[in-house]
Formats: sequence, structure tokens, C-alpha cells
Amino acid sequence: MKIKLQVNGRQYVLKVKANSLLVTVLREDLGLTGTRVGCDTSQCGACTVHMNGRAIKACSLLAVQADETNILTIEGIGTETSLHPMQEAFRDCHGLQCGFCTPGMIMQAIDLVEHSERLDSAEIRRGIEGNLCRCTGYHNIIRAIAQAAGPKMIESVDAAAREEALQETASLREDSR
Ligand code: FES
Ligand code: FES
Repeated sequence: MKIKLQVNGRQYVLKVKANSLLVTVLREDLGLTGTRVGCDTSQCGACTVHMNGRAIKACSLLAVQADETNILTIEGIGTETSLHPMQEAFRDCHGLQCGFCTPGMIMQAIDLVEHSERLDSAEIRRGIEGNLCRCTGYHNIIRAIAQAAGPKMIESVDAAAREEALQETASLREDSR
């Protein structure tokens, strides 16, 4: 089957199998291996890209379902010398360790910030709940997204983390009585 895709600003006409996943076509036909496959079952978010401006999991969509759409992958958002502000924030805040989850996390985070009027750390946590990271413990990812969100943040992430830690300590004390 033939499909037309715009990917990172370039037009492609591609011959794909009826059962090819979008993520497979991006990685194997177009060589865009920044989009990762972590689970293939819609759980981890490593395959997150933007389709027509919104984040989607590319392992959960057949390539034919993406016909005539506009796809943006991690390769399309910045360059080594001119990072996207979200990439800069992840670098500044040490929001990655092995980096496997990072492309999907960044694409999800960009969608979250672009489509939110106001954010706090709870909203950020909710916004990335479909993206798993096995290394960082999420705190620095949340700090990075807050940095990139800038004036959209209505609270300091560190203040929220302190408050959360105090509540946890109080409930642990309560439990030990
Ligand atoms: S590979 Fe798509 S959600 Fe895990
Ligand atoms: S940085 Fe290793 S999985 Fe997230």
C-alpha cells in the first residue's frame, strides 16, 4: 500500500505493508531511529512522536492510519548546535541517564507544555504518566519540563517536592505509631 507522509518537513511517498506500524516505518524505512521501541504494547512511551501537532505512540498506530499526516520526530525538533528549549532543559537539569526514554519523553513534554495554559508539578506528572523511565526517578525530568515551561509554571517544583517529602514523613510517623 502507498502512503504519503510529511516527516520533519520532508514529503515522502512510501510503500508499506498493511500491518506495518508507524514506528517501524519511521525507524526502518526512514532511518529515524531516535524514536525508540521499548515495549510495542503502548505502555512505555518510548515511541512518542507528534502527529498533526499532538503526541501519539507510534507503536500503537498502523502506518496506513498515518496516511496524509504531518509527523514530527525527535530528529525534527533541534540540531546539535541549536537544541530545542526542551532538550536544553533536559540537559541543564540532568533529566536523563541512559537516554533510552528521552526522545519519547521530550516529545511528550513538548506537547504537554504547548497545550497547557498553566502547569504545576502534579500536572507535569499526570502529563508524562504514559512515559516510563527506568533510570532517573523522574524528579529531574519534572524539573526539566518545569524549566522549559517557564512562566506557565504556577509553583516551584522544588517547593512542591519539599511539601511532598514533608507529607510522606508525616504519614510514615503516623504509620509507625
Ligand atoms: S514502544 Fe510504544 S509505548 Fe512502548
Ligand atoms: S534515562 Fe534511562 S530509561 Fe529514562
